[in-house]
Amino acid sequence: MLIAIDGPAASGKGTLARRLARHFGVPHLDTGLLYRATAAGLIDKGYRLDDVERAVGMARGLALVDFNEDHLRGREMGEAASVVAAIPEVREALIEAQRRFASRPEGAVLDGRDIGTVICPDAPVKIFVTASPETRAQRRALELAGRGEKVDYAAVLEDIRKRDARDSGRAAAPLKAADDAVMLDTTLLGIDEAFVAALRVVAAHIAQSK
Ligand code: DC
Repeated sequence: MLIAIDGPAASGKGTLARRLARHFGVPHLDTGLLYRATAAGLIDKGYRLDDVERAVGMARGLALVDFNEDHLRGREMGEAASVVAAIPEVREALIEAQRRFASRPEGAVLDGRDIGTVICPDAPVKIFVTASPETRAQRRALELAGRGEKVDYAAVLEDIRKRDARDSGRAAAPLKAADDAVMLDTTLLGIDEAFVAALRVVAAHIAQSK
């Protein structure tokens, strides 16, 4: 069972992907962490985010396990990840590892921006998770506050809008729903309801392929 989940920042795709992976007993890869770790590697060493050669070196050197999520999940890293993710050479350097992860015999759940379009265009189940920018900003503000960050809702909403524009407007693998993705709007859904809706998408696929 290979499931591709895409969607904008704070749409709930990560939580959904984790729950689906647990439910089906398959590994999960949050591909945003790859871009966050690449950006963090540059920032921690004092390099510029537009240093393509070093960014590619960081991306190539990543192991797909044991990310220091605490360091990577903050507001600054999300923004920086979106900047390095727009560099085509960085995306190229990360493709093979993601595809290898996706081709595990037991299946996998991957979430990101280009999973259904570029990384796993043949995934049998693709879900594109959306929610209004205001709802996503509220969720992200709560998450950041839970991590002990000082948050200003207006600034978080501004970040979300900026990231949407950058992630959707870039030339390389922009944030976009695959033609065969099922759209899941979680604006009015709690996580349990979103999970049930996603399970229905998987069940429909299984019924169809019988
Ligand atoms: O999902 P996230 O917020 O952790 O992602 C951080 C940034 O990484 C996001 O703004 C864009 C980029 N990204 C991407 O370009 N492609 C992916 N498959 C995953 C993330």
